[in-house]
Amino acid sequence: ARLVVLLSGAGSNLAALLAAHEDPAYGARVVAVVSDRPDAGGLDLARAAGVATVVVRPADFSARPEWDGALAQAVRVFAPDLVVSAGFMRILGAPFLDEFGGRILNTHPALLPAFPGAHGVRDALAYGVRVTGCTVHVVDAGVDTGPILAQAAVEVLHDDDEASLHERIKVAERELLVTWVGRAAREGLRVEGRRALVGHG
Ligand code: GRF
Repeated sequence: ARLVVLLSGAGSNLAALLAAHEDPAYGARVVAVVSDRPDAGGLDLARAAGVATVVVRPADFSARPEWDGALAQAVRVFAPDLVVSAGFMRILGAPFLDEFGGRILNTHPALLPAFPGAHGVRDALAYGVRVTGCTVHVVDAGVDTGPILAQAAVEVLHDDDEASLHERIKVAERELLVTWVGRAAREGLRVEGRRALVGHG
């Protein structure tokens, strides 16, 4: 299966997918990395791995619909079977969802529906939960609201700060993402109500 990864940051999730795709048995290859930020560290990882990169900067477009269209065009070119949003800090608009909906997986560093949005780790820490974690879900029109495919729990330690907790979550997150992207790629992905499932049922 052909994967296109969307990212805005360091790309530790991408790094894990690039390591996994070296094994032909994984059944999926990252064919391109698309970012909204020219300075995203993940772009360097992609280049080092010989994977195509594209930057689609919102500032280069007059309005949001034009950016949505340009993002869809950039991804379409690579004919993905699955689009993986791994630390992509933009909301995917209707044009993008119309074209790739049902085939977009997102990873979020909290146990959705708890702590959605751009500061899930900080919000969990501030709330005082003893257990948080990460979620892989199918992207829908909302923010971190789509049908859940898999989750993993991560303990919050008393001396955690946002950075230490996020690093511990990211260890679990990249394992969860690699496992379930692989299964979705090999077995197929479908949605039944609030659940996303692999396999053809
Ligand atoms: C990940 O924890 C992702 O869930 C969150 O931001 C982080 C991105 O990390 N949205 P990286 O860029 O994959 O290292």
